[in-house]
Amino acid sequence: MTQSDPPTPLESRASGPLTGKVRVPGDKSISHRALILGALAVGETRISGLLEGEDVLNTAKSMQALGAKVERTGPFAWGVRGVGVAGFAQPQAPLDFGNSGTGCRLVMGAVAGCPITAVFDGDASLRSRPMRRIVDPLQLMGARVVASGEGGRLPLTLQGARDPLPILYRTPVASAQIKSAVLLAGLAAPGITTVIETEASRDHTELMLRHFGAQIVSSPEGSHGRKIVLTGQPELHGAGVVVPADPSSAAFPIVAALIVEGSDLILSDIMTNPLRTGLFTTLREMGASIEESQVRGDAGEPMAQFRVRASKLRGVEVPPERAPSMIDEYLVLAVAAAFAEGTTIMRGLQELRVKESDRLEATAAMLRVNGVKVEIVGDDLIVEGKGHVPGGGLVATHMDHRIAMSALVMGLASDKPVKVDDTAFIATSFPDFIPMMRGLGAEFV
Ligand code: S3P
Repeated sequence: MTQSDPPTPLESRASGPLTGKVRVPGDKSISHRALILGALAVGETRISGLLEGEDVLNTAKSMQALGAKVERTGPFAWGVRGVGVAGFAQPQAPLDFGNSGTGCRLVMGAVAGCPITAVFDGDASLRSRPMRRIVDPLQLMGARVVASGEGGRLPLTLQGARDPLPILYRTPVASAQIKSAVLLAGLAAPGITTVIETEASRDHTELMLRHFGAQIVSSPEGSHGRKIVLTGQPELHGAGVVVPADPSSAAFPIVAALIVEGSDLILSDIMTNPLRTGLFTTLREMGASIEESQVRGDAGEPMAQFRVRASKLRGVEVPPERAPSMIDEYLVLAVAAAFAEGTTIMRGLQELRVKESDRLEATAAMLRVNGVKVEIVGDDLIVEGKGHVPGGGLVATHMDHRIAMSALVMGLASDKPVKVDDTAFIATSFPDFIPMMRGLGAEFV
């Protein structure tokens, strides 16, 4: 199955100016982590602004299945009563993470430090994604893969370690999911668990672990890397978490406002952790008008209000070392690049091949079918911007929420409408995307 059943297509048409003020949903990465750390803490965790998308709801269900008490107390407000580090109970059924690599991989880490066995599963997209990168370090810590699909993929049965070992691990690729899985397993190990990354990836796990009472120190390593040192077996205590708005979701209305003439949008509470803001840096280099105000912070995560106005964009070169800070944003950046004047070269995109779909191929296909000249050279993506996009294409979404949203954004300023074959997966990360965009003036029919 590569679509929802039945698929829900949608067409996006050239629209008038996009205007208004919105708050996009809570950050997906922080929402997963708040539920997982809440479940590993002693006492009550109160979360406000949780993303109530399918990915996060699957993590909430898995925390319940592992013994934590998780309840919705109001709109986007959730309470978690945790079981303590290494306190997960044996789940009675397979844990189904749907479309979510983050939920699945972080929970694998947390389970690896508990003396239980759990089956991890997901949809066809998640079943096709690599899992060895996660279970390799977890096995070094004493966990065991009892069964798996072809190539170590899902469905995968993981037996956690009775006496987990602390390790020093150098991540083979810049991945917050690998780093987080090792740190979550390391919570249950005695002594010091160390993760070294040569390119710094998003640090929400580190920041939130500290917020919940763990001793964790992060220091620079080499020119772009980090060394993270965690002291094992802390007592995590329940904490309040305010989830800021997700910059990766804000990316869609932001690019839409930049390319639709006359637009002027305000987006509130956008998380501005520097390890997530590569897209905004790049768009500004392209000439985008994005103003930040009302800067504030909560639990180590900064946020700000953004004002975005339609702008004339020019092509730029995006360096490979910026990739970890905008890894989920290349699809929508490619849309902005297609509307820019001149060539945009995005370098070092190999990790895009193992996301919810092969996003390198899917981005090129999305642009090509809409008349944009695009090339993949090795791991680089090269988009020829002509200041306008012919449109008229049907985009295959491949069970990937971000392809669907990027293509719909493109259609808002294309000469001819852009159609997507299936919008169902948008619900994994941004359930209100279609009504929210319509409310700003988008013509989706
Ligand atoms: C995430 C990390 C990234 C990102 C994903 C969310 C996280 O994946 O693509 O959407 O919350 O840790 P990788 O760590 O595999 O790069």
